[in-house]
Amino acid sequence: MSSPQLPGLSSLPKPLLNSGFRISKDQLTTIVPVAVAAMLGTYLISRYFSTPSGQKSKVNLSLNKDSAKVVHSFDIEDIGSKAVYCRCWRSKKFPYCDGSHSKHNEETGDNVGPLIIKKRDA
Ligand code: FES
Repeated sequence: MSSPQLPGLSSLPKPLLNSGFRISKDQLTTIVPVAVAAMLGTYLISRYFSTPSGQKSKVNLSLNKDSAKVVHSFDIEDIGSKAVYCRCWRSKKFPYCDGSHSKHNEETGDNVGPLIIKKRDA
């Protein structure tokens, strides 16, 4: 349905909305994938550089995972002259150090080591 033409109005400029800006199908087949790739790239980059809270890496990878908290307690009198405790959480003899921290440090560039408790020489 077209509006009736008034005499003399055809010489006036057309409204901006009717300026003829058009995108062809060929242009759309290029613009849409590029826009989607740009959005996906932006999303992936933002995910890579952000660490959501609660998603930080875990220290304990395998020990007593069914327990809410891993706790060991020793009486100082029972320790003897020297005790070496693991702080890297990779020991097969946890809570005692078995030297696994060396392999962990080599693989990750970390610098963890044991806690050594010993009696002072009298
Ligand atoms: S094995 Fe963990 S500190 Fe040595």
